Amino acid sequence: MSEFLLEVNNLSKHFPIRGGILGRQVGSVKAVNDVSFKIKKGETLGLVGESGCGKSTLGRAILRLHEPTCGQVIFDGQDITKMNGQELKAMRRKMQVIFQDPYASLNPRMSVGKILSEPMLIHNLATKSADQEKRIHKLLDFVQLPKDAINKYPHEFSGGQRQRICIARALAVEPEFIVCDEPVSALDVSVQAQIVNLMMDLQKELGLTYLFIAHDLKVVEFISHRVAVMYLGSIIESAKSSELYGKSMHPYTNALISAIPIPNPEKKHQRIILKGELPSPMNPPTGCHFHPRCPSVSDKCHVKYPGVTEVSQTHEFRCFHPN
Ligand SMILES: Nc1ncnc2c1ncn2[C@@H]1O[C@H](COP(=O)(O)OP(=O)(O)O)[C@@H](O)[C@H]1O
Ligand SMILES: [Mg+2]
Repeated sequence: MSEFLLEVNNLSKHFPIRGGILGRQVGSVKAVNDVSFKIKKGETLGLVGESGCGKSTLGRAILRLHEPTCGQVIFDGQDITKMNGQELKAMRRKMQVIFQDPYASLNPRMSVGKILSEPMLIHNLATKSADQEKRIHKLLDFVQLPKDAINKYPHEFSGGQRQRICIARALAVEPEFIVCDEPVSALDVSVQAQIVNLMMDLQKELGLTYLFIAHDLKVVEFISHRVAVMYLGSIIESAKSSELYGKSMHPYTNALISAIPIPNPEKKHQRIILKGELPSPMNPPTGCHFHPRCPSVSDKCHVKYPGVTEVSQTHEFRCFHPN
């Protein structure tokens, strides 16, 4: 058995763009391009990058909520991209997702008890109502909500509490792996830390494995064992958290790190401001996709896409002019 719970190999997701009265394909949005990474059991991989760089599409393609264009997703030794509907349903129990917006992802007409029992019914877990109730109490306990939450409705809770309900719903089917798609981005900073701490506690207690998506490095720094930085559909650097924050190689990672506010004013650092905006994934720049915004750009970067350079077994990047 491999030490990796999840192996993503050369995964791409391109959305077709259709035009004209015949609806012919006139182009494609290359949202995820040839992405590979592995996550060990019990580990958290942080995935960061600007809005629109393809993080959610990657998270969804792994779960086959978006059908991948090509590539492999090996979970627990089995290739998910080759599974039929029945096999996929069984696998979905082990793989859950938590979204950014706890308002939109909870049905306002369903009580918390109903919200938490629904996934159990879909997967034939705890079919007797007494078992269900016991399990719901356990789930509420996991996410530190009071027992009487069971009869309440989503609008009766704060944003942070609603995200706790979403976490409990994900845990209802006893998953092994959770894609956490910006689970704290919509929450107040003080609440963010509570939810991140809760997720770390649950990881230890239940042996969970996370892909934790965020648009800034600050949020993933704390929770992630390793971090992958995404730019325009590709992973441009990945490393152990300590290695990335101390010794980042890619100019884009450096810019993201420089944007993290530091509480000690004496250790003030220079913030790197990137030129321009994220280019369109419909029409990505030639060569290195980052070159139009890169402070270290050279002629070569305009024409050639940089291959992977390994700094160590756990640290690699794609750049001709690293730090
Ligand atoms: N269903 C879709 N159809 C077409 N384009 C899409 C679809 N979903 C996402 N995209 C495009 O793919 C790119 C990546 O989007 P997304 O994965 O949501 O980025 P992120 O989560 O990093 O903000 C964006 O350019 C977005 O417009
Ligand atoms: Mg997203």
